[in-house]
Amino acid sequence: MQNIEDISKNLLSQIADSDTPREILKVSELRQLYGVIKTLPAEERADYGKRINELKLTLESAIKSKESDLENATVEYLDVTAPWDVNTQPLKLLPTEMGSQHPLTREIENVIDIFTRMGFEAIESRQIDDDHHMFGTLNFPENHPARDGYDTFRTEEGYISPAHTSTMQNRILQDGKAKLESGGQIGVVAIGRCFRNEDIDATHEHTFYQYEGIFVNETATLGQMLGTLRSFFETYYNQSLKIRTQPSYFPFVEPGLEFAIEKPAEVGKDLLAGEEWLEMLGCGMIHPNVLTAAGIDPKKYRGFAWGGGIERLTMLKYGIEDIRYFESGKLQFLRKFV
Ligand code: PHE
Repeated sequence: MQNIEDISKNLLSQIADSDTPREILKVSELRQLYGVIKTLPAEERADYGKRINELKLTLESAIKSKESDLENATVEYLDVTAPWDVNTQPLKLLPTEMGSQHPLTREIENVIDIFTRMGFEAIESRQIDDDHHMFGTLNFPENHPARDGYDTFRTEEGYISPAHTSTMQNRILQDGKAKLESGGQIGVVAIGRCFRNEDIDATHEHTFYQYEGIFVNETATLGQMLGTLRSFFETYYNQSLKIRTQPSYFPFVEPGLEFAIEKPAEVGKDLLAGEEWLEMLGCGMIHPNVLTAAGIDPKKYRGFAWGGGIERLTMLKYGIEDIRYFESGKLQFLRKFV
């Protein structure tokens, strides 16, 4: 009987150390133990047989649990600060899996696609900027309360992480000036990351994406802007849509508007139940001071601009109820977009 205990201890420790625990059972002393039964006196056989069977069950369950540990233990973290040890086991890598595009990347591509087909040029906005582009060139007077509305992050050196893509307006206008003067027009969308120092909840994030549009020539009108935007949203949601505007204030446009669309069918009944109109972006005719700040004569040229959130577009398209998912890195969320 002592023998069984020893064998059991020995096999259990072999199983614990093995990468192929099932193999151990195949070549183990367990087989020999079964052979011993025949040699025993009749009255001892039943008890002995029972103990061997118990041992077998114990080993079987140890093997199963070791196998499942091995399956789960696919992640080992690499400590880059640890001294290198020649005896270290090679790292077990994460199981390979199809990667997928982040939903925002995908929708940014869709947005670029639609506007470039209309003839706009697409550029990426900057992720670090200054007061001059965030406020100065956009007709925000010094110390004007409208500056506070943007909850800007600032570095100690005075740089700003842009709180909207409108920071690109002055650059786009300056770059396009020569084109205007040779009889052409400016038509650019700037897309990129923006940041605001605000409290986070299901509809507010400190980090988000905007798409900014700018169009300038000698004859641009508000009607053309509304037509452009309507056509963008109809293409994006793949249906005809009613639009609605209401007056709003942004120092860099005059008049300034908030632009809403009728709730697209794609959004589904449950999300935003009861809402008929969805606020999508801010827009308006570019303020003369903004044109002047870029060296463009507002008496000769006119234009329109808009800026909206990529998250909002995406959330409505896929019925995503919480904006925080986008920056969370949660695989469970991201895998839905494979
Ligand atoms: N930049 C504004 C915002 O983020 C939106 C906007 C852009 C409004 C262009 C008018 C014209 O709040």
